[in-house]
Amino acid sequence: MRVLSGIQSSGKLHLGNYLGAMKQHIELQHDSECFFFIANFHALTTVHDPELIRAYTRDVALDYLALGLDPEKACLFRQSDIPEVTELTWILMTVTGKGLLERATSYKDKLAKGINSSMGLFCYPVLMAADILVYRSDLVPVGKDQVQHIEMTQDIAGYFNNTYHCEVLKRPEPKLNEAMIVPGVDGQKMSKSYGNTINLFDEPGPLRKRIMSIKTDSTPLEAPKNPQNCNVFALYRLMASAEEVQALEERYLAGGMGYGEAKKQLAVVAERLLAPARERRERLVTDRDYVEDVLATSARKARGIARQVVAEVYDACGITTIKDVPR
Ligand code: TRP
Repeated sequence: MRVLSGIQSSGKLHLGNYLGAMKQHIELQHDSECFFFIANFHALTTVHDPELIRAYTRDVALDYLALGLDPEKACLFRQSDIPEVTELTWILMTVTGKGLLERATSYKDKLAKGINSSMGLFCYPVLMAADILVYRSDLVPVGKDQVQHIEMTQDIAGYFNNTYHCEVLKRPEPKLNEAMIVPGVDGQKMSKSYGNTINLFDEPGPLRKRIMSIKTDSTPLEAPKNPQNCNVFALYRLMASAEEVQALEERYLAGGMGYGEAKKQLAVVAERLLAPARERRERLVTDRDYVEDVLATSARKARGIARQVVAEVYDACGITTIKDVPR
């Protein structure tokens, strides 16, 4: 089973990225053939600052490795190191109707947020389809907001295969990440664009401070509280053990515990989870060669597959290239 997913390097990653996506990715490395990549070409649809693109791209690599991605088990590479992805994007664009892209809700959401409508932003799902199809991926673990993009990828694979009467492109399936919604400090979905994130690699002090700022309702300290509609509890549930979750749930229901106390407990489990990753990241930051080496080794492996698929795609649509020019 070949698993593939990507994370855009368009900002600092936060707890929502980890609990909502990276954690599931890292778990999959134990029993699947995994390809994870840093979508720096996608990031160019919203970030036009070369220093930032470079920094965020490197950050995603460091974050994945710090959080437990094992490069012996899973590939981790930059999208831009696989030129076949952009080659395939063009071919796919020639079989994809404009109407399909016009229906993309994520495109409409981005326009509503005021992001400039470039051709890159419009064709974002085609680049994403190429990312997936170029490795003949079986399964694509994503959050709910990306499922439509995977369905579009299935459609696009079908358009190509039908147009050229072949079965060159493999239809992938989405795999919905378990942690459905990770709330931010204001209770909305944790997202960079809402400014409600909890950083993954803050020092213990600022981490605790951020957790203490999570929005709660005004139920008085003595009163019993409903854990089901509390942001603090929702985050606790994603990070604590089953026994800890049960114990805190009982304290909510019993009353006599303020939200401040619940937040302190959340800060403890968050620190327990993130401290080892923070230490690992500090070590990795100083080892630039190691990180580059991981990215290069993985890219070579991924590229071997991508080359083969693009060769078959070119063959199917009648594109000839000179064989002895290194590609
Ligand atoms: N669009 C995805 C996101 O924002 C990132 C991404 C790019 C991706 N290419 C992909 C995810 C291919 C899965 C597969 O989350």
